[in-house]
Amino acid sequence: MLKGLPRKIIALTVLASLLGTAVAAEHPGKALAAKAGIPWPAVIGHRGEAYDAPEETVASYTAARELGVDYLEMDIQRTRDGSLIAFHDNTLTRTTNVAELFPTRAKDPISTFTLAELKTLDAGSWFNRAFPDRARARFAGLKILTLDEVIDVAEGGANKPGLYVETKVPSQFPGIEADVHKTLERRGWLTDRPAAEPGHVNVAHMPGRVILQTFEKPSLVLLQKEMPQVPKILLLWIGDGYMEASTDATLKSSGAKDEAAFYAGVKVKSKAEFAAWMDWAKANGAIGVGPAATLTGGGEQSYMDMMQPWMNKMAHDRGLLIHGYTVDEPVDFKALTDRGADGFFTNRGAQLLKFYGRPSKETVNQVLTRIGY
Ligand code: G3P
Ligand code: CA
Repeated sequence: MLKGLPRKIIALTVLASLLGTAVAAEHPGKALAAKAGIPWPAVIGHRGEAYDAPEETVASYTAARELGVDYLEMDIQRTRDGSLIAFHDNTLTRTTNVAELFPTRAKDPISTFTLAELKTLDAGSWFNRAFPDRARARFAGLKILTLDEVIDVAEGGANKPGLYVETKVPSQFPGIEADVHKTLERRGWLTDRPAAEPGHVNVAHMPGRVILQTFEKPSLVLLQKEMPQVPKILLLWIGDGYMEASTDATLKSSGAKDEAAFYAGVKVKSKAEFAAWMDWAKANGAIGVGPAATLTGGGEQSYMDMMQPWMNKMAHDRGLLIHGYTVDEPVDFKALTDRGADGFFTNRGAQLLKFYGRPSKETVNQVLTRIGY
């Protein structure tokens, strides 16, 4: 086929081909993301921009959108009267004033409250007390949001991010997968792909406008049944009925100084166990996995190391993308990217965007001030 071409052109052609192969081999996730219609590498605004504003509130999601993240991430639960809301914890105590307003019900699950009751709560003031250096007077009184209200935020600016929707402890909410389906369908998110103006985040225009995520295998099966065309991620954990651990040590029996130190020592039982979860994810419709990460600086979000090179290779070899959680610092972005990560859940979208070489035009402070905080 190359017969008759000058030697120099043949040499250049061979070199280009080799370089192309090398690039493809270096980034197996890039082709996988393109196939699924998902940005690569992906910046997933974990509970919004939750380092800088109260998690899963309008301030957090609007800041994430304005900074330019690819996805707004949320944990979906359901109220007693059937509304879908974005809220992480099983109870309201950590991030609201439920103990003041409903003292006898403070530790009751979300599913026992109506939406009207939840809307009376202050979901912002806790942040000002917990993080005085990041406090803003206007965070006080922020409300818990419905899924519809998060969608309003996603649609409401020049940047058009996608949604990264988790069914949170879905066994508590039978049928929640169908409820999520109905809301996304009613809002046109399963059919419409609006284009952003040039120069703005345009994930809403991509096939992977919505990504569905869950830790629970039965929920992944139901999400696949409800929305087979929507990309799905199986979140990964070791122990507690998830991937089998190498020992049955607990925080107490391990003698670890804190949870992060304990988690750092938790290992999967075997490579075969890890491979079995990858195979199950692939066979049940996942286009990727969301592994926990051990963070350099420890802390509340530092878990077991499920992003070891052999693990990432197993995922990529099966055609699965890798979105690690929850990573906020450049040192970890670098280390985990070098190991093959295709994106991260992050509370600090601004930091990850900068790391990926597409920094926000404004600082976090400028964004929060401009949007009214
Ligand atoms: O959904 C990915 C990541 O958010 C998992 O951790 O506990 O913050 O939902 P969590
Ligand atoms: Ca989540």
